[in-house]
Amino acid sequence: RTRMINLPHAGWVRSVRTQKAHIFLHVNDGSSLQSLQVVAGAELNDQLLTFGSAVEVTGILKKSPHQKQAVELEAQRIHVIGECDPVDFPFKIKERHNLEYLRQFPHLRCRTNAFSSLLRIRSEATAAFHSFFKDNGFVQIHTPVITSNDCEGAGELFQVEPSSVGDAHREFFFSVPAFLTVSGQLHLEVMSGAFSRVYTFGPTFRAENSQSRRHLAEFYMVEAELGFLRSLNDLTKVMEDMFKSTTEQVLARCVEDVDLFHSKEVFFKALNVILSTFRMSYSEAVEILGRSTENFTFPWGCDLKTEHEKHLVKHCGNVPVFVTDYPYRLKPFYARANQDPPQNTAAAVDLLVPGVGELCGGSLREERLDVLTAHLEDAGLEDTYDWYLDLRRFGSVPHGGFGLGFERFLQCVLGVDNIKDVIPFPRYSHSCLL
Ligand code: 4AD
Repeated sequence: RTRMINLPHAGWVRSVRTQKAHIFLHVNDGSSLQSLQVVAGAELNDQLLTFGSAVEVTGILKKSPHQKQAVELEAQRIHVIGECDPVDFPFKIKERHNLEYLRQFPHLRCRTNAFSSLLRIRSEATAAFHSFFKDNGFVQIHTPVITSNDCEGAGELFQVEPSSVGDAHREFFFSVPAFLTVSGQLHLEVMSGAFSRVYTFGPTFRAENSQSRRHLAEFYMVEAELGFLRSLNDLTKVMEDMFKSTTEQVLARCVEDVDLFHSKEVFFKALNVILSTFRMSYSEAVEILGRSTENFTFPWGCDLKTEHEKHLVKHCGNVPVFVTDYPYRLKPFYARANQDPPQNTAAAVDLLVPGVGELCGGSLREERLDVLTAHLEDAGLEDTYDWYLDLRRFGSVPHGGFGLGFERFLQCVLGVDNIKDVIPFPRYSHSCLL
């Protein structure tokens, strides 16, 4: 069947091929990887119809004689809306530029197949996380971007002040020092005291002076908090269910875009791997590292570094690994202390995944008022966190939660090496382009 398109088909030219009597274009509007093939008589050929130019095409949509596409547009009129000089345009027709090259053009890279696929997958993954939480009875909370707390206590805060600094002795804008959030956890804990299951998914900021392939200064974190939660097992079950359901949804709904990163076989193999998980305690991890042939010197009490995480994942057959019960002193003040002297561990867990390392960090939270007060006093924080102690004074329940680095999730599922390639506009030390 043929039909007249009333509204012109609008998009950007992805390819141009001319024959004696005809011109063939592929026009892509960004909604999918598929471009619409446009066939036009040579008389419609226009010097300005170049790779990257923006066009509006009016014509008749017909069943295509070619197997590759179901339909093609027989053009009656082609209007070049925005020209694109092929000499100056940094992307060349038929060339597959690598992600590192594309990174130099943060304002233009979304015009390429690879990066537009990535951003469509990112959008679908966002929806997948929201649907997981909706289907499992979580209430979404918009936690603040500006906050006066340092949830992680790791000293990686960006301070917020108006740009008109002027007098160095004037008061803080908010009367107290204020920062960009490093985690919405404490606000979620407030809310889990009323809604039981809550989550947040938003921008998170860390002044990490790192150029690594898995750190950004601004990234998106998915965080969940569950009231009436009594064991790490129950927490890791939610983390695992979330990881599986979102991975499956992304892979099922973005087949064509994902295909650009993985061949189908690799992709399904990766999926099987991703969907089986392994669990070990921190103490077991120390033993495994001690026995390895890689000569790690890793005494009990040290924090796992990237190379240790990699080794543990490899040791388990390249599947995601939950590492539980870390030394208490490695974890922030909110982590629940296990009753296991002399080890003194915390009911905390990290999820390590192939290719990336740490993807999620979580813990049971210290809900016992006396224990928490003592910990805060030790850290000299009891006044700062008096409101946090109130949560334990009034209707306190055992609870726990976790945070997942959204960009690291995309890296893991797509096998993308550098975190800067899975976010529209990456921010990292010495780089804030656009
Ligand atoms: O392990 P983290 O620091 O955990 C927290 O912030 C908890 N308060 C979360 C919670 O329990 N609600 O961070 C969680 C995850 C990490 O596992 C990592 O995937 C990601 O956030 N992440 C980063 N991703 C990109 N760039 C950075 N600089 C990151 N820092 C952490």
